[in-house]
Amino acid sequence: MAKKGFGIIGLGMISEFHASAIEHMDNARLVAGFDPVPGRAEAFGKKHNCRGYDKLEDFLKDPELEIVTIATPSGLHMDGAIAAANAKKHVIVEKPLDVTPEKCQAIVDACKRNNVLLSGVFPSRYHEVSKLIKDAVDKGRFGKIAFADAQIKWYRTQEYYDSGAWRGTWKMDGGGCLMNQGIHAVDLLQWFMGPVEEVSAYMNTVGHERIEVEDTAAVTLKFACGAVGTIEGTTCAYPGFMKRIEIMGMNGTAVMEEESLVKWEFADETEEDRIIREKYCDSTKTGGGVADPKAIGFHGHQWLFEAFLKALENGTEPEVSGESASKSVQIICAAYESARSGHPVKL
Ligand SMILES: NC(=O)c1ccc[n+]([C@@H]2O[C@H](COP(=O)([O-])OP(=O)(O)OC[C@H]3O[C@@H](n4cnc5c(N)ncnc54)[C@H](O)[C@@H]3O)[C@@H](O)[C@H]2O)c1
Repeated sequence: MAKKGFGIIGLGMISEFHASAIEHMDNARLVAGFDPVPGRAEAFGKKHNCRGYDKLEDFLKDPELEIVTIATPSGLHMDGAIAAANAKKHVIVEKPLDVTPEKCQAIVDACKRNNVLLSGVFPSRYHEVSKLIKDAVDKGRFGKIAFADAQIKWYRTQEYYDSGAWRGTWKMDGGGCLMNQGIHAVDLLQWFMGPVEEVSAYMNTVGHERIEVEDTAAVTLKFACGAVGTIEGTTCAYPGFMKRIEIMGMNGTAVMEEESLVKWEFADETEEDRIIREKYCDSTKTGGGVADPKAIGFHGHQWLFEAFLKALENGTEPEVSGESASKSVQIICAAYESARSGHPVKL
């Protein structure tokens, strides 16, 4: 099969992870990158042996470009995604899909209109422990689930927020510890548990200066399935702790920390459960991004891009579809509305 031509819009920190993921795939190759900052695309092109463009129109006309990944500041995702879709390119958009439900919907609509595939980027869904928990929920192994909790107690320095004018702004970052850092866990929670009906939240900016957004938030959730849950998010928890998710029900409990399982116990215990516990009790191979955004691996991106190509080949919807990637943005924006108004918000 011919290798699919990938190009990246926005050549900053995360674009290097996109490039590594693409470079490790058998059926893909990186053909181009675009960034308007003078010299950045040229340097990226030299480093990755692809074409570098500083004009979007030229990038989108690249004859080998078939799939565009969007790695710009979050509040610019919609602009790049719609331009790519209108040029009939398939689109993969970094998290969050964009910073409001309305902008996410505009991306979904543009991709439908142009008959191109769309995926959000949630690499954590491809980690083995995430897939094990999702499978156990789908098989009903937890029984009636009572609690589903996420903790994203991370640490970001003031220098991190100062490193880009877009960071920590409502317009471009869309939020703070929930919309930027916590969204991976929020996505996993809603993927495991299904629809959230109501949200209430408190938030504050506790430990950082010159940012508009929250660096600390506590959220409670009411799931349609009857369970309740919480999201605890912060970027003020020195030295930073692994993202933790707990699912607890009448017949079982699973607790994951990043890519490891710290609890896996079911009333209907099998031999396989023992093997799973042994295999995944210490399986996190990266720093999890808890204090350094670059301390993550590129394999989650690679698996997500590979699944996207499979969907393209089979004519099916990508696993992290646009609609599915919008859900976390809806939940987080509802939390912001609740924190501002002092009232619970229905979804
Ligand atoms: N999946 C993950 O684990 C993960 C991790 C980090 C960041 N991200 C997401 O990736 C996105 C980028 O984050 P980053 O840390 O790489 O930011 P960054 O500031 O390092 O890079 C952003 C790049 O976009 C470029 N840019 C700005 N405006 C542009 C435009 N109009 N068109 C094209 N390029 C433009 C900038 O010049 C810069 O090179 C964010 O949405 C962020 O949430 C995802």
